[in-house]
Amino acid sequence: MKYPYKNEFSINLVEWYHNEKRDLPWRRTNDPYKIWVSEVMLQQTRVDTVIPYYNRFLEKYPTLQSLAYAPQEELLKMWEGLGYYSRARNLQSGVREVVEKYNAQVPTNRHDISKLKGVGPYTAGAILSIAFNKPEHAVDGNVMRVLSRVLHIKEDIALSKTKKIFEEAVTELIDQNDPGAFNQGLMDLGAQICTPTSPKCLLCPVREYCIAFEEGHPEELPIKSKKTKSKTIQYDVFIVKNYEGKYLLEKRPDEGLLASMWQFPMIEKTTKGPSCNTFEVLKTNYEVPFKDDIGEQLLKFKHIFSHLTWEMECYLVEADQVDIQKENIGFFTLEEIARLPMSVPMQKVLNILK
Ligand code: ADE
Repeated sequence: MKYPYKNEFSINLVEWYHNEKRDLPWRRTNDPYKIWVSEVMLQQTRVDTVIPYYNRFLEKYPTLQSLAYAPQEELLKMWEGLGYYSRARNLQSGVREVVEKYNAQVPTNRHDISKLKGVGPYTAGAILSIAFNKPEHAVDGNVMRVLSRVLHIKEDIALSKTKKIFEEAVTELIDQNDPGAFNQGLMDLGAQICTPTSPKCLLCPVREYCIAFEEGHPEELPIKSKKTKSKTIQYDVFIVKNYEGKYLLEKRPDEGLLASMWQFPMIEKTTKGPSCNTFEVLKTNYEVPFKDDIGEQLLKFKHIFSHLTWEMECYLVEADQVDIQKENIGFFTLEEIARLPMSVPMQKVLNILK
């Protein structure tokens, strides 16, 4: 690397981190398990959103052992609203592996820790550097943004092969004595100073060592090609209420999007002709004697996932004299529903009943 400010950059970044670091709950511990939980929650999720979840989660599951065998439904309920629920399931699998295979000691090297379920290169590096003081890279999108500017790297960060360039750069730059501060300094710099638009260069502790600042156009980096447009699916959602005032819910399959979470029945508005009648599909698919009327539309909204948009229209329908209870489908009172894990779009539907 022909970057001329290697030492200066690292020294100033670490010093700035120690003076200015945000007081975050996972920064008050060296426990690798707690740092692991924080890093998994922080993937794709903002710090402010994560804090209350992190605190509640560690109150409920203070140790690896307490999480390892927690019931899945309880775990999903603890994660409810954070999104990307496979993170919770993978975290539990990884934690269980540590308990069973490593005598409840989180591995301290990249090779072993990376084999744990849900622990990718970023999470591995974050745990190793923050909890164990190992000089390991932890490169995510924010770190790529910061370093693309500091080092003036013009590679497309939307391409997966580009990440390696940044991992090698961090390996060269990282402070050998304080790698946790170095990596978290990069994270804080990305969050607070070196932001995607309008970076606050005048407040930046490493401005003097930033090639993009020197060149005059830091906001033009990183280069990031556009993702292909995400897909939209339209659903009709049926709030089916029976004579006891209970509501019909089903459990999603145990794999795929929102796996194992509960929902009101939702039927895709297929494009198979204008005659597609989702109410007829509902009556066919669910063995419930419905009253014949589909009520008025109660709610219409969009929910945007990272790769997919759901367009939802919700209707209230009444069912006659039934109370089925099977493993994956049944009628529930509002009180019972409150204990089941439901996705954010389904919470929105639920809210109109409260
Ligand atoms: N984002 C990801 N990991 C983080 C951490 N440890 N501190 C602050 N923000 C983060």
